[in-house]
This record gives sequence, structure tokens and C-alpha cells, in this order.
Amino acid sequence: MRRRRAVTLGFGGIGAAVAFMLGLGAWQTRGRLRTDVVLPLPVSEMNWKLTDHLGEPVSPSDWMGRPIMVFFGFTWCPDVCPTTLSDIALWLEELGPDADRLVVALISVDPDRDTPGVLADYVANFDPRIIGLTGSADQIAQAAADFRVTYRRVIRDDGEYTMDHTAGVYLFRPDGRFASIIDFHEDRRFAVPKIRRTLN
Ligand code: NI
Repeated sequence: MRRRRAVTLGFGGIGAAVAFMLGLGAWQTRGRLRTDVVLPLPVSEMNWKLTDHLGEPVSPSDWMGRPIMVFFGFTWCPDVCPTTLSDIALWLEELGPDADRLVVALISVDPDRDTPGVLADYVANFDPRIIGLTGSADQIAQAAADFRVTYRRVIRDDGEYTMDHTAGVYLFRPDGRFASIIDFHEDRRFAVPKIRRTLN
């Protein structure tokens, strides 16, 4: 009887330990999710001011009432940005004139290189509906903070620098509410319906 009781207690002890570990795991996962998925502000609550590739000032109020698709990047980006912009051009082609009222913007995280003129040449390679936006370092920092995007300068072995940056494409409804993110390399069968939902 004493022995049986001891065994029962033993299992109870293991059970408690497993429950504790599972609980800890769940807590850690929740913590990680919470830091990874930080949603951008509604456009109506954003405070950035930038300059477009034609040299015109742009602020969030200019975009209110239109669906919005925004991506952060830079023209020197070797792979992620050109791939994403090619994807965006394909999505726009598939959507056709339905996407004409969509605001499509690339916000540069490399304002030292990405002047309005450089951006104008760059976005013209993809789709005439894509706007390039740049500004001072502080203005870019404000935009990134509003969109909850991160970026940082990385010095390469050859002494040049490149930029690490958040890669998702952010979608907003015409009232400025955040709609969804299209992940890097997301299949167009998922990406295009996400955009279409912001247009309706
Ligand atoms: Ni990039």
C-alpha cells in the first residue's frame, strides 16, 4: 500500500513537471508571437511625412479613402526588394484596372542613396502605379515606427553597406484600418485575393 502510494505520487510528480514544462513552452511561444506580430497603426493614426519619386510631399492623410499596399525596401537591395516588386507588378497586372485606385508604395530604408530621382528610375522598371517614397533619416524612422517595420544598416566585407529590413507587404482598407500582410514569396493565389479584399 505504501509502495503503491509512492508510485502514484511519482507519476503525479512527473505529471506536474510535464505540465510545468508545457506551460512554460506555451508561455514562451505566446511571448515570441507577441513580439513577432506587431500590427502597424491604422493609417489615420500615422505621423510620417515623406517625399515621393516626383519630389512631391506625401503624408498619411493623402491616402485616406483609398486601399493601400506598402512595402519597405531600397533600390540597392540584391534580391528581396526586386523579387517583391516583380511580384507586386504581377499582382497589379492580374488585378488590372481594378487596382488603379490602390495606393502602391515602396518606402526606402536607404535615404542616403535613394533620392527621388533614383527611386523614379527604379519603380519605373516594375509598374507605373508604384510610388517610391523617401525622406530624411528621421522621416524614414517615423514611417518605420508607424508601420512597425524594422531595418538596420549592415557593413559588408567590401566596405559597402546594405540594409536589413522587414520584408512583408502591408495592406490597408480605404478607412485606413490594417487588413493583412503578404509574406515574402507568398503564392499569388493567396496574395491576389488578399489585395482584392481591400479593394471591395
Ligand atoms: Ni530589400
